[in-house]
Amino acid sequence: MHDIIQQLEEKRAKARLGGGEKRIAAQHAKGKLTARERIELLLDEGSFEEWDMFVEHRCADFGMADNRIPGDGVVTGYGVINGRLVFVFSQDFTVFGGALSEAHAEKICKVMDQAMKVGAPVIGLNDSGGARIQEGVASLGGYAEVFQRNVSASGVIPQISLIMGPCAGGAVYSPAMTDFIFMVKDSSYMFVTGPEVVKTVTHEEVTAEDLGGALSHTTRSGVADLAIENDVDALLMARRLFNYLPLNNREKPPVRRSGDPADRIELSLDTLVPDNPNKPYDIKELIVKTVDDGDFFELQPEYAKNIVIGFGRMDGHTVGFVANQPLVLAGCLDIKSSIKAARFVRFCDAFNIPLVTFVDVPGFMPGTAQEYGGIIRHGAKLLYAYAECTVPKVTVITRKAYGGAYDVMSSKHLRGDVNLAWPNAEIAVMGPKGAVEIIFREEKSDPARIAAREAEYRAKFANPFVAGARGYIDDVIQPHETRRRICRSLVMLRDKKIDEPWRKHGNIPL
Ligand code: HXC
Repeated sequence: MHDIIQQLEEKRAKARLGGGEKRIAAQHAKGKLTARERIELLLDEGSFEEWDMFVEHRCADFGMADNRIPGDGVVTGYGVINGRLVFVFSQDFTVFGGALSEAHAEKICKVMDQAMKVGAPVIGLNDSGGARIQEGVASLGGYAEVFQRNVSASGVIPQISLIMGPCAGGAVYSPAMTDFIFMVKDSSYMFVTGPEVVKTVTHEEVTAEDLGGALSHTTRSGVADLAIENDVDALLMARRLFNYLPLNNREKPPVRRSGDPADRIELSLDTLVPDNPNKPYDIKELIVKTVDDGDFFELQPEYAKNIVIGFGRMDGHTVGFVANQPLVLAGCLDIKSSIKAARFVRFCDAFNIPLVTFVDVPGFMPGTAQEYGGIIRHGAKLLYAYAECTVPKVTVITRKAYGGAYDVMSSKHLRGDVNLAWPNAEIAVMGPKGAVEIIFREEKSDPARIAAREAEYRAKFANPFVAGARGYIDDVIQPHETRRRICRSLVMLRDKKIDEPWRKHGNIPL
């Protein structure tokens, strides 16, 4: 028995060593942690239960029969984050470059299947050279098995991807189907085809970093949510994000009360919006002053900055915030911001997270670039997402709510539950200047008359009371009481239920 125990320990030690000390040192030299070190940091200390440590590939071609490493390039299992269950897989670059074999894919699929059965999130730590070249189609099949599970799990359990090394070719489509992607700066990249292929096909010369590094995907493509300095910070951020989320779609998010009173008033908000309606202000100031302890977890902060999305807590309960940002493009809705917010709204709806929407939107962005780019279809995504969404929806119009963008931004008509406005809100078909130029076109040559018409329009329509008179706004509130009013609304809405007629699924304008 003693011998068997010793053999077991030797086998374990061999598996833990992955591709060996030389390759571990190479991994460290690149500023990267190993697959196991990452798991240690991600999970609560000592909570990791590893599965399939002794799995090996079944490939015999290209000398692979004599080249087997237990674990086969991915560490899988489960553990807890702040005591809450989570499944994890962590690709081991020291073993065949973390390349995905049939057996490697089976390990990932096993934890995903189990996560769906018990209702717990999956966090994937990606660091891989892609399909295991020696295995050919068996590896491609393995990827597709993972993709299928990403889709089956979507909206059932949260899925988070950390990109901590290469992620190229079709491999990118697994993280792409998860809910959140964090990338590590300078050591990770994602692209469908690498720089060499790009050069051959399009004659463009581009580095891997420029093509698919963390900055490219968080500022240009919007594929990733956050670009993070290093492995350690990325893992800590994943823990922070996890704390906002429910374990699955049948649960509510965890409650973490702080000492911040739900009825706290914030007098500085009374002067947040400048008197001049064309002057911008920072909507993040409103979010930070509204959430518990000023703690706002922003997603995609560097992409489509004209809309702000992220999580915070209101009286301990997780809330998703969506807010137009007047500082960028005057807060207009365009293609990128519509898509960014739509996907976030759908995540919150899938996982029982109430939405708070702050509105200051002059309208949709005009221009050929937007029209040719399909703003009609992409803007419709946000409209569709809000209209479809059944979680509690609280909306506060802080200033402008013009045109179609008024409708889209969680209006009463899209089943907004509680719709509030600040006293200076302007809710109308368009701004006074544009409106007067159209309906009083014949008076254009008389500036004094036009100015008078503008003042008349402003007095009549550029306020919240026309909408209030119709019940489209439930109340006009003082800015300083925003937190208190939202908290109360959310308590009232806690057991909200909407039953929809049966359908297989809608047809969101993709
Ligand atoms: C098998 C691989 C591998 C792969 C790397 N290795 N990629 N083994 N299959 N796909 C092995 C290397 O042979 C090497 O083994 C070790 O991993 C480390 O690789 P290096 O090249 O030394 O590392 P580095 O210089 O950091 O470069 C990393 C890399 C490069 C950029 C990822 O290895 C690379 O370009 N690999 C091929 C990538 C690729 O073309 N993958 C297929 C993409 S198509 P030793 O023994 O020397 O340590 C794809 C399709 C998916 O993935 C489709 C899904 C639908």
